[in-house]
Amino acid sequence: MSRRDLILSELGLTPLWVRPELLAEPEAVAEPEIAARIAPVADDAPPPPVRREAPVIVVPHTQPERAPSAPAPTAAPVRPAAPPPRGNGGPSVHATIAPLAEADSSRARDIAAMDWATLQQAVTGCTACGLCKTRTHAVFGVGNPQAELLVVGEAPGAEEDRQGEPFVGAAGKLLDNMLAAIGEKRGERVFIANVLKCRPPGNRNPQPEEVLQCAPLLARQIELIRPRLIFAIGRFAIQTLLQTDAPVGALRGKLHQVNDIPVVVGYHPAYLLRNLPDKARAWRDLLLVQQRLQALTAASRD
Ligand code: URA
Repeated sequence: MSRRDLILSELGLTPLWVRPELLAEPEAVAEPEIAARIAPVADDAPPPPVRREAPVIVVPHTQPERAPSAPAPTAAPVRPAAPPPRGNGGPSVHATIAPLAEADSSRARDIAAMDWATLQQAVTGCTACGLCKTRTHAVFGVGNPQAELLVVGEAPGAEEDRQGEPFVGAAGKLLDNMLAAIGEKRGERVFIANVLKCRPPGNRNPQPEEVLQCAPLLARQIELIRPRLIFAIGRFAIQTLLQTDAPVGALRGKLHQVNDIPVVVGYHPAYLLRNLPDKARAWRDLLLVQQRLQALTAASRD
C-alpha cells in the first residue's frame, strides 16, 4: 500500500475519493476545495456533547521542570527554548498560566510539588469536585510520562470512565489512526490526557468549578512531562488551555503557546466522525504537528 493510501486509510478515507495532489502538501489546495472533493461516508458515531464556553483555566504558576522522582529511567536533557512560531500572517495565542485563586492555593501548592506517582494517586483518589461521586474511574491519562507530544482532550466519556483510559471509544480509535498517520503511537512518544479527569454525567458540559479543581492536575502533568509540543483537540480543550473564546477555525494552522510550550490545535475526533469534510483540514493540523515536532526535535540536537 502506498504511503498516501496508508494515510488515507488511517484517516478512514477511501483513496479514490481524494486526488493525490490534494494530500501532497497541506498548503497545495484551498480547504474548501479539499472539502468539496471528499465524499461523505456513513457514520454511526454519536454526536459529541455540546460544551459551554470554556471557563478560564486556573493552574499553578511554576517553571516547567523534570520531576526527579518521575518513573522515567533516566533524567531527560534540558530542552532548549522552542523556536519562534512560524509566521503565517495570523495572530497566535500565547497563554500565560495564571496563579490559583487564594482559596485554593494550598491544594495548588501541594499539586505543584507532586512527582508523577503522587500525582497519579492524587487523580485516582480525587474528591475535589462532585464528579467523584458519579465516576467509575478517574482517568489520569495514558502514555509515556516523558512524551514528546502531549495530546489534550476534553473529558472522559462513558467508555473511558469504564476503562480508566482516555480516548478508548470510537473517537479514540480515530485519534489513534490520526496519530499513526504522522508516525506516532499512543504510549510511545505520546501522552494522552484530558482537561477533566472524571466524566461529567451524561457527558454534560464541564462546570467552571470542575475545571478549576482539575486544572492544577493538568498543569502539573504538563510540567512533569514537559512535552515538546501540545496538540489540543476540540473546542473545550483548546479554549481552556489557551484561555480564549476564539473559534477553533481562527486558531487552527498557527503555533500557540502555553507558557513556553508550543501548542497546535485541531478538531476533536468525535467531531470529525460526524464531519467528514473537516478530515482534510484535520490532516493539515496533523501535518503541522508533525512538522513542528520534527523541527523541535532537530533544534534540540543542535
Ligand atoms: N473525548 C475526550 O475528549 N476525551 C476522552 O478521553 C474521550 C473522548
